[in-house]
Amino acid sequence: MAGIVIIGAQWGDEGKGKITDLIAENADLVIRFQGGNNAGHTIVRDDVKWKFHLIPSGILYPGKLCAIGNGVVIDPKVLTDELDDLRAKGVDLSGLRISANAHLIMPYHMLLDHAGETKLGKLQIGTTRRGIGPAYADKAARLGIRVQDLLDEKILKKKIMAAMEPKRLALRPYAKSPELDLQSMTEDYLTYGHRIEQYIADTARITWKALDDGHDVIFEGAQGTLLDIDHGTYPFVTSSNPVAASAATGTGAGPKDLDEIWGVAKAYATRVGAGPFPTELTDATGQLLGERGHEFGTVTGRRRRCGWFDAVMVRQAVAVSGINGIALTKLDVLDPIDPILVCVGYEIRGKRYDYLPPGAALQAEAKPVYEELEGWRENTRGARSFADLPAKAIKYVRRIEELIETPAALLSTSPERDDTILVKDPFAD
Ligand code: IMP
Repeated sequence: MAGIVIIGAQWGDEGKGKITDLIAENADLVIRFQGGNNAGHTIVRDDVKWKFHLIPSGILYPGKLCAIGNGVVIDPKVLTDELDDLRAKGVDLSGLRISANAHLIMPYHMLLDHAGETKLGKLQIGTTRRGIGPAYADKAARLGIRVQDLLDEKILKKKIMAAMEPKRLALRPYAKSPELDLQSMTEDYLTYGHRIEQYIADTARITWKALDDGHDVIFEGAQGTLLDIDHGTYPFVTSSNPVAASAATGTGAGPKDLDEIWGVAKAYATRVGAGPFPTELTDATGQLLGERGHEFGTVTGRRRRCGWFDAVMVRQAVAVSGINGIALTKLDVLDPIDPILVCVGYEIRGKRYDYLPPGAALQAEAKPVYEELEGWRENTRGARSFADLPAKAIKYVRRIEELIETPAALLSTSPERDDTILVKDPFAD
């Protein structure tokens, strides 16, 4: 039996969806543990693109147990739309389970996310405006509405009233907004409840049982370590913990059940939204990375900021999550680029650092110290074994492994599932 955690080792969008989908084939349960529809996973199967925001990536295997854990925040409109779409495409949803304890994103959360960002003006975080931050804030304030509340009109209405009360002032500009009408909001959410009722379950017990029965479980993360509310570049972060420890709290599994921890990282770096990004490239190389990597957000369509691989930050992600295998994606994007730079340290106010200091002011001033590596100027797209890779590309991978002190468990050379070099079987004892 094995519990394998898949997390982002950078700022999200590392290609976790493909990796999860790939190894889900041999897993018995896939469970998501944090984030919400701020995430967007793209999976390419036989030239068909599948986009998910909430549904776990294993859903394309008929009947596979796929759960949304308690740590996820769910926008039930997005969820039911996603279910309708999958059903229309003939996808078998019988394995889906939704935690009764997961919290819901309400219409006022989205309005508050918008209002909060507008108020911040130039200082805005660049959130996805999907209501993620306000939903987690209500969870912490014990004013959250949970999936189980959707099944009882009286409870639902009472809880919505209690949650909206302290927000009256902030919501005043939207007072006449039809989405905030208590009666229609209650009715809409009851309807969502009826539509997902068959999938609502005690996902913690399902996880325990799967692990007790010796089954293989994938804990699917969203976003990335540097967007972690505790360990990321605060305040330019999301409102959950995308690190591996969250796979336990976000599902109910015990930390000892997390046997294998894979961090997914691009062979370069991208970031969406504001915040420090020491290796960012605003020149033609950055442009080229964006074009070759199709670096546009799956949720908001925003252009992603692009830059060189930052080994210091990924090494930090390795430490925070106990990552024991790195899944390196999009190696092919670097094919025409020569030389290739890798960040091995920072210079801040005249001092050299081999880690990212916690001070936000220092982080904002971090200037990268680079090591230069030779580009390979050959095609690696679609490579399926090390024998298909040029020696210089292998050298690049080996140097990254050294710098982040973690071996590559997998290399991905295109969005197609078969264009993968699997170095390690995650479920091997
Ligand atoms: P929020 O999660 O919508 O509150 O956004 C907070 C920050 O996290 C912003 O910089 C977003 O661009 C970033 N973010 C949230 N989800 C993702 C993701 O799935 N990929 C990349 N960035 C994300």
